[in-house]
Amino acid sequence: MGLFPPGTDHLLRGVLGLMAALPVLGTAVLMLLARSPLGTAAFEPVQQPVQFDHRHHVGDEGIGCRYCHEGAWEGPYAGVPPTSRCMGCHGQIWNESPQLAPVRQSYFEDRPIPWNRVHRLPHFVFFNHAIHVHKGVGCVSCHGRVDQMPLMEQVAPLTMGWCLECHRDPVPHLRPIEHVADMTWSPPGDARETGRQVQAALHVSPRIECNTCHR
Ligand code: HEC
Ligand code: HEC
Ligand code: HEC
Ligand code: HEC
Ligand code: HEC
Repeated sequence: MGLFPPGTDHLLRGVLGLMAALPVLGTAVLMLLARSPLGTAAFEPVQQPVQFDHRHHVGDEGIGCRYCHEGAWEGPYAGVPPTSRCMGCHGQIWNESPQLAPVRQSYFEDRPIPWNRVHRLPHFVFFNHAIHVHKGVGCVSCHGRVDQMPLMEQVAPLTMGWCLECHRDPVPHLRPIEHVADMTWSPPGDARETGRQVQAALHVSPRIECNTCHR
């Protein structure tokens, strides 16, 4: 959405090529690039066509993330739920609420609600939800306390440094997979000890080579 200038892809390929040919110069260019504002986040709540409030839907109602974002367990994208999922409840409850008018309209006109994206990596970065979720990285580690957000906002920087920090030392961030969608879970004792057990059980070892995320 205009955050990342279209030239970045070529720039990245250039730098990767440069690093192969001239390691020292390549690294210097990389360090300069890392200071550029390209990878920084907005960190502001994003307005939406419908006042969808995760607090009501996750906190009070206790609907699990998986009910609406099952994609996160299945592949690269968590996705947003189709309007029919909303109407499963809102066909009956709050079905006259003016706040839900755009939802009813979307449903009856068979047109998706035009949600504004909150998180977006540049297109030259490869990311996959399922691999993280199945290796014990919880939603809360990357998205924060979604159950307390009236409007969705990005809380993690999503920069390369941020990804790498965890890839180099994932242990303190790992939890048993049955708790990946749990917003309030915390390790029973030492986070590292719990993490080590998960690491051993699931054979967790993230890669840090460039082509892990740039392909
Ligand atoms: C009843 C359905 C529903 C449930 C349950 C739900 N969400 Fe969502 N989620 C949505 C909708 C609709 C959007 C798009 C609107 C928005 O961004 O607020 C969304 C957006 C998001 C986004 C931002 C997407 C983007 O554009 O970057 C994240 C992150 C997210 N949800 C995480 C979660 C997590 C974590 C949970 C469980 C704690 C959860 N959601 C539970 C419906 C749901
Ligand atoms: C499992 C049932 C369920 C599903 C599915 C569901 N909702 Fe809700 N929603 C509720 C309940 C219950 C409330 C009332 C919560 C409260 O006020 O505490 C509510 C409230 C709302 C409100 C506020 C209405 C008002 O007048 O204040 C909006 C807007 C809303 N939901 C949008 C959505 C959208 C969009 C989706 C689909 C992405 C969705 N809901 C899916 C149960 C659901
Ligand atoms: C390792 C960090 C990480 C974890 C764990 C994680 N996410 Fe994400 N999530 C991201 C990133 C990064 C993006 C942006 C992806 C992009 O732009 O391609 C994202 C995007 C999203 C989106 C926007 C739609 C999409 O698919 O791009 C939703 C919704 C979402 N995440 C929900 C969840 C839920 C629910 C969980 C837990 C089951 C979860 N995420 C776990 C990092 C994470
Ligand atoms: C909180 C920890 C954490 C964060 C943050 C994180 N990752 Fe990961 N990532 C992992 C773990 C754990 C795995 C699983 C490694 C394995 O398969 O054993 C993984 C795996 C991956 C894989 C699969 C390739 C592989 O085998 O390593 C990709 C691609 C990936 N991450 C990209 C990203 C990107 C891009 C970001 C930043 C936007 C990111 N990750 C942020 C922990 C994290
Ligand atoms: C774990 C995932 C991951 C790995 C491994 C990784 N990157 Fe990145 N890289 C990212 C993400 C995410 C971004 C976009 C956000 C940013 O710019 O910080 C990025 C951005 C970049 C950029 C653009 C910089 C900018 O400011 O826009 C360059 C150049 C780059 N990476 C080179 C590399 C090189 C060279 C390596 C290997 C030494 C590497 N990356 C390894 C995730 C990764």
